[in-house]
Amino acid sequence: MQLQLLLSFVAIGGALRCLAPTKKMSYQQHPSMSSGSRPARRTFEFGRTYVVRPKGKHQATIVWLHGLGDNGSSWSQLLEGLPLPNIKWICPTAPTRPVALLGGFPCTAWFDVGEISENSPDDMEGLDASAAHIANLLSTEPADVKVGIGGFSMGAATALYSGTCAALGRYGNGNPYLINLRAVVGLSGWLPGSRSLRNKIEGSHEAARRAASLPIFICHGTSDDVVPYNYGEKSAHFLNTAGFRHLTFKPYEGLGHYTIPKEMEEVRNWLSARLGLECSR
Ligand SMILES: *[C@@H]1O[C@H](CO)[C@@H](O)[C@H](O)[C@H]1NC(C)=O
Repeated sequence: MQLQLLLSFVAIGGALRCLAPTKKMSYQQHPSMSSGSRPARRTFEFGRTYVVRPKGKHQATIVWLHGLGDNGSSWSQLLEGLPLPNIKWICPTAPTRPVALLGGFPCTAWFDVGEISENSPDDMEGLDASAAHIANLLSTEPADVKVGIGGFSMGAATALYSGTCAALGRYGNGNPYLINLRAVVGLSGWLPGSRSLRNKIEGSHEAARRAASLPIFICHGTSDDVVPYNYGEKSAHFLNTAGFRHLTFKPYEGLGHYTIPKEMEEVRNWLSARLGLECSR
């Protein structure tokens, strides 16, 4: 079972690798990941960040998050090809850590995950550390630049989690969340921490107001065999009932756990409209 899942994830890497065809995916390249013993305390050492500079006037900055076992490089190449000249893309790389889902196999992951399910406990410490790392990447953008977060698979889960932190005004650990997020995009992902979300949002007037005004775009393939389609659908439903009314959910008939140009085209159109970008071609 675990082997099967691992193979599915490697297949995702393979799907993305088509865009950068030569190298083999390897978990062993990271210099920070020695073969010695695991540290007793969890530390989060993030990988390299790739930046795609805007070709036109800089109007928005989006942090884009890769899926399990991937890195910022592959996505920066894909995003560079999207005709969105007013967006600066920041593509960080997750820390390399043992992942329970892969039997403790170390790979790049935004948080630890035991199984992809709404009932499994969420790794709040890992989620908060990644959400804070992402917020930090956005914190130095000029005031007139709109900022957003998007991602694929586990990256989408982290993006959606960041969206809930933005609405609540704080991370799961209670620290204040200080970024004024203007857009969240989640492709083929799920929503961590969904169980307590509605109560928390409804418990605060400010949170409800922020949730209602944060635009979210969620897409999911109906033939996804890694993160089931209904997780995407339920995440959208959870967010909507929790008060995120500016939410668009888009099913893709027959799409598996990967992205297609048509989907990225819709992400492009959605971002252009939501962020009021001057020229999108
Ligand atoms: C990034 O991941 C891709 C697979 O998606 C792989 O081909 C590439 O070598 C990786 N790059 C780095 C710098 O790790």
